[in-house]
Amino acid sequence: MNRVKITLLHAILLLTLTARAEKTTVTVEANAGKPISPDLVGIFFEDLSYAADGGLYAELVQNRSFEYAATEQPTWGPLTGWEFIRRGGGAGELWVDSSCPIHPNNPHCALIRITNAGEGVGLSNAGFDGIAVKAGESYDFSVFARMLYIGNGRDSKPAGKLPLSVRLETKDGAVLGEANVEASDPAEWKQLTATITASQTVPDARLVVLARATGLIALDEVSLFPQKTFKGRKNGLRADLAQTIADLHPKFMRFPGGCLTHGDGINNIYRWKDTIGPVEQRKGQPNIWRYHQSAGLGYFEYFQFCEDIGARPLPVLAAGVSCQNSTRTRETGQQCIPLADMPAYIQDVLDLIEYANGPATSTWGAKRAAAGHPAPFGLKYLGVGNEDKQTDGFRERFKMIYDAIKSKHPEITVVGTVGPAPSGEDFGLGWKFSSELHVPIVDEHYYQSPQWFWDNRNRYDNYDRTRPKVYVGEYAARDARNRSTLRAAIAEAAYLTSLERNGDVVQFASYAPLLARRDHMNWSPDLIFFNGTEVFPTISYYVQQLFGLNGGDTYLPTAVSDPKEFAASSVHDGATGDLIVKLVNGSSTPKPLRIELNGVTTLPRSATKTVLTGANADAVNPDGGAPAAMPEVSPIEVGQAFDYEAPPNSLTVIRLKSGQPSHLQSP
Ligand code: AHR
Repeated sequence: MNRVKITLLHAILLLTLTARAEKTTVTVEANAGKPISPDLVGIFFEDLSYAADGGLYAELVQNRSFEYAATEQPTWGPLTGWEFIRRGGGAGELWVDSSCPIHPNNPHCALIRITNAGEGVGLSNAGFDGIAVKAGESYDFSVFARMLYIGNGRDSKPAGKLPLSVRLETKDGAVLGEANVEASDPAEWKQLTATITASQTVPDARLVVLARATGLIALDEVSLFPQKTFKGRKNGLRADLAQTIADLHPKFMRFPGGCLTHGDGINNIYRWKDTIGPVEQRKGQPNIWRYHQSAGLGYFEYFQFCEDIGARPLPVLAAGVSCQNSTRTRETGQQCIPLADMPAYIQDVLDLIEYANGPATSTWGAKRAAAGHPAPFGLKYLGVGNEDKQTDGFRERFKMIYDAIKSKHPEITVVGTVGPAPSGEDFGLGWKFSSELHVPIVDEHYYQSPQWFWDNRNRYDNYDRTRPKVYVGEYAARDARNRSTLRAAIAEAAYLTSLERNGDVVQFASYAPLLARRDHMNWSPDLIFFNGTEVFPTISYYVQQLFGLNGGDTYLPTAVSDPKEFAASSVHDGATGDLIVKLVNGSSTPKPLRIELNGVTTLPRSATKTVLTGANADAVNPDGGAPAAMPEVSPIEVGQAFDYEAPPNSLTVIRLKSGQPSHLQSP
């Protein structure tokens, strides 16, 4: 009998031990933290794939200033997006004029001669794939008009009033809302405004402007904005898209690119001064992605958005050279701003710092104040250069800019650049140059396979901590055919645990690109897709969101007994006192875990687990439709040591809520 009992006990013990052995142990040392960047996860915004015009910028009219050009797309011209319409016997002519612009930066306008008013002669615009309007919502219309005369032929008078009807119509011409404005003498540009309320929800309405009397009129800067922009700002941002971005809880925002920053030849370098002030005076230009950027979303709006979402602004300026991939103009390859012009270029860089931070009484601070923001924007970081080829021309200009910022604005931290790839010639040369110059932070980029992200999790473990710190400015796991899949998202999550572990070196990281409009994609994959009415976050979006929401300022050493296809990291968040453990299972089978919290003296009042998972690693994020996986939050029981089974292909965030940071104190 006794022998039977002993055998049974042995068997139970053996079973328990076997079960234990199968578990991967995750050991968190809560007493041995090291400070890490509290701003690790942010966003990268670039106007590509219609991210700005036709995207985040809420303007509903396409080509509002008649500035589209064949240099952007061969079939484009000033009237692209516009249709000349004559209703009920109306007759006249339409042409583009540049003899009397609103502003030299905005050279073209539309001239309409109405020879027979009929039921109206004018223009129609279908926006970006149709104008999406919602029943009961109001839209602010504005136009710059210059009435040259009224009447017809010999009766023409240079004085009087020319009535204009402004309508929202369905594509079949049914009226959804209407307002009336009047252009009047003298023949000077005047802005006319009206509000139209839509009677129905329609994804593809048109804006129609009809002159209702004979005469000659010039129109420019024809604009329609929803009143419901993000935070109700004028010249504002599309509320649903901006909110989706805000929900990432990004700690910083890099803008305006990417390659767009250094541009397609030196004449296409993004010039921040062209993007501030009244919108009709801003200078639009082709962007490197071969469509038109109106600059309506300009530096003021970028800074304002950063403030609105609590993200540090991280603007990036060209390092005095264009993109090495420039092709469009005769200036192919990397072009350098002539040295004679560099002092003026450097002054632009310094002026940006004054625009962001200077008192409202300073020259550039006054322009910020005039735009409605007398208080400084609190700029601390400034990127110089993007993925530039490490040539002598680049090095000379970068150094000139860097030295000027250091001497005039030592309070600004410069972020340098080390080429477009995680290794290779420009990477090596860039690191050497930046280290010699003691550039505080450099920007690394990598678009790689999911496996690369798993294989490179120790990339920064042995980084020389005396060298510049790192901003992982652009990265994304590209699965087969450049798609974003669950596998890719989980690989990004695994990699992010390694960035947290090395958060003393890696200051910032931003997935790229952020936004892409369906049917207008220049790049794949992207974090958030959208069309005129809907927003489609990807699985990678939720990975970014979970890391954005669950960052910390102290890394807690986290040992994993079996790191094959598995990664973990733990942080302490000083602001809340919470301890956060992230667990990433990249395998297609569940992973039984034993989690041990060493040095936690007080168990938290409560804990939650947020799990992002899906059965199929191949699940693709379509550029539309619901994401293949979404995070789910639930309570979890925790102890000094506890078991948890990480689902296949999953990211789990366990948040141990604490009223006080007592778990960091020694027992
Ligand atoms: O993110 C898309 C592009 O990738 C960026 O413009 C560029 O910096 C990089 O090559």
